[in-house]
Amino acid sequence: MEIQLWRELLHPYEQAVSELIVKFNSLKMEFSKNSLYSPIESVQGRVKTVSSILEKMKKKGIPFEHLEDMVEDIAGVRIICQFVEDIEKVSTLIRMRSDMEVLQQKNYLENKKASGYRSYHLIVSYVVETIKGPKRIRVEIQIRTMAMNFWATTEHSLQYKYKGSIPEHVSGQLERISDVIFVLDNEMSQVRSEIIDAQIDSQIQTGIVKDILTCIENLYHVASEREVLKIQNEFYRIFMTNDIEELKRFQRQLDIFAEGYRAQSVDSKPL
Ligand code: GTP
Ligand code: MG
Repeated sequence: MEIQLWRELLHPYEQAVSELIVKFNSLKMEFSKNSLYSPIESVQGRVKTVSSILEKMKKKGIPFEHLEDMVEDIAGVRIICQFVEDIEKVSTLIRMRSDMEVLQQKNYLENKKASGYRSYHLIVSYVVETIKGPKRIRVEIQIRTMAMNFWATTEHSLQYKYKGSIPEHVSGQLERISDVIFVLDNEMSQVRSEIIDAQIDSQIQTGIVKDILTCIENLYHVASEREVLKIQNEFYRIFMTNDIEELKRFQRQLDIFAEGYRAQSVDSKPL
């Protein structure tokens, strides 16, 4: 196939990967804006390289005319979670969406692969809008924890190094490490709620501090300098105490005070 044709073929897949990264990051942001814990920790994506597509076609005996329906991971998106429990939550979020349809699932969580690989895969059908009209393509979404991802990326590098045939003593080691990762994920699950609480507290504090600072900045334009300095010093004093309740109280008082000047934190510029 000509290079130009490859470019044409891969373009919708590139578009899909870019769009899906934006969409999943946007979900993560929505959780965060609502002071909720996000089951999505990070999102990655890639389009399979031509050489890797050719490799796969050769290995599986796929003819060119069946390339798009038989190679299901030309577009790949990876969603990384903090905890095993988050994987199911992400899968539910995906199944609820109207812009993609789950065609297939592969659960390598309980049934890990012989290599030790653990992950949850969904093959989804997704429509991209192109200059020739809508095009329905398939995307492979891999959902896994940070620990599972650590294992998979390391093992993948070794597969590359040993060109697919990892020596037995190394593969044995990888299997043992995979068991350790399984234990680690379970242990993490046991402290999940505590970690989530801590993360949400820190998120809330960041949000409050941001609002307070915006409010003070707005007050600078409308209130007297002496008054604003007093408020600013009070904010620094409370911030140093690490008392989030005290910070919330301060934010409420400041809001009432700013209301008089119509300079609350929601306004980025004074009216
Ligand atoms: P592929 O020909 O690899 O696509 O196999 P498949 O179509 O049977 O699908 P499978 O679910 O086995 O693999 C899909 C993808 O999961 C692969 O392309 C890899 O990204 C990942 N994967 C599967 N098995 C392993 C493994 O043992 N190690 C690592 N590192 N990744 C794996
Ligand atoms: Mg595959």
